[in-house]
Amino acid sequence: MKTYRIAAIPADGIGPEVIDAGNEVLAALAEQEGDIAFDVTTFDWGSDYYRKHGVMMPEDGLEQLKPFDAIYFGAVGAPDVPDHVTLWGLRLPICQGFDQYANVRPTKIIPGVQSPLRNVKVGDLDWVIVRENSEGEYSGHGGRAHKGMPEEVGTEVAIFTRAGVTRIMRYAFSLARQRPRKLLTVVTKSNAQRHGMVMWDEIAAEVSKEFPDVTWDKMLVDAMTVRMTLKPQSIDTVVATNLHADILSDLAGALAGSLGVAPTANIDPEGRYPSMFEPIHGSAFDITGQGIANPVATFWTAVQMLEHLGQPQAGERLMSAVERVCAAGIMTPDVGGTATTREVTDAVIEAIRGRNTLATVETATD
Ligand SMILES: NC(=O)c1ccc[n+]([C@@H]2O[C@H](COP(=O)([O-])OP(=O)(O)OC[C@H]3O[C@@H](n4cnc5c(N)ncnc54)[C@H](O)[C@@H]3O)[C@@H](O)[C@H]2O)c1
Repeated sequence: MKTYRIAAIPADGIGPEVIDAGNEVLAALAEQEGDIAFDVTTFDWGSDYYRKHGVMMPEDGLEQLKPFDAIYFGAVGAPDVPDHVTLWGLRLPICQGFDQYANVRPTKIIPGVQSPLRNVKVGDLDWVIVRENSEGEYSGHGGRAHKGMPEEVGTEVAIFTRAGVTRIMRYAFSLARQRPRKLLTVVTKSNAQRHGMVMWDEIAAEVSKEFPDVTWDKMLVDAMTVRMTLKPQSIDTVVATNLHADILSDLAGALAGSLGVAPTANIDPEGRYPSMFEPIHGSAFDITGQGIANPVATFWTAVQMLEHLGQPQAGERLMSAVERVCAAGIMTPDVGGTATTREVTDAVIEAIRGRNTLATVETATD
């Protein structure tokens, strides 16, 4: 029996709703697998904690998280707390403090979920976006001078280091190599940004020599949005900077049907620290407490967690259960269904146990 220690940080808005659902599904999966167990410790960090203590997590938060095998994260964001406080107070310190430099965002059209793209079927859109997660535009460099004065200045400096770019390129090429098409697109903006982005391109070309079996191309980020929309079949693995991939992966989530199904993993590929797994979406306060949050992204990121923990078979069992439930039309309203979070969760648990017979509805793509 292998027991994994999981730190759950549900945080804000629908975060607790989807993480509770995820924990239930993981417990059912462990029971079914028989030889794995999850020892989940829940941390009450987030905006409520901020209102009480003036910080999003305790000062020794990272020390408390260090002994865990993985972090299962909900979402941060509250209407009455500035977004830069919630983000920089919890999520980013974990990503940066644990050097989770590879942010991996798979996207595909799940059977039963309708893509807003005409003529795009299941299998036509199957991507993994690798986002540089430690530097670039979100490195936190910059400042403000003469605050509130007419001559006020604000700078936001993007940092690109040879070490940082090289390691994310290696990660992306290596991931592309593991996928059947062995195809990588390097996203850039080196026409307009002629320092860091030109170095980014040069390092991509250098690292590509280590991966002669991977076909790769280069695409300006603006043109990439067009390609994602008009020729989704031409894309497989993508690597982009922190900001570019942040934006492109929201587009990817929307093109695959809903943000509610899009997962992400913040990985420390060297395994020095726990990696963090979360849905891409935020705290969605417009639907908080209504019981209709889509838990699929949170289930899918658990699949990524299982793969990372060396349990790909358990991951496959969970993904297949999720796909069967969606294909049977048991989905929340954001993807065109009428089911509640509870109903989707129960259906996935039953599918894991192999107890429900799910009829596949006509795949909703035209
Ligand atoms: N990783 C994170 O923690 C993260 C990511 C994005 C936004 N945020 C924060 O979340 C807050 C709200 O931001 P936003 O509204 O721009 O983005 P959001 O992702 O919370 O919501 C965008 C839209 O998608 C819907 N949606 C999102 N997840 C859903 C789900 N699981 N099921 C059904 N519908 C879902 C919401 O109802 C909303 O209409 C802000 O404070 C923002 O800073 C946090």
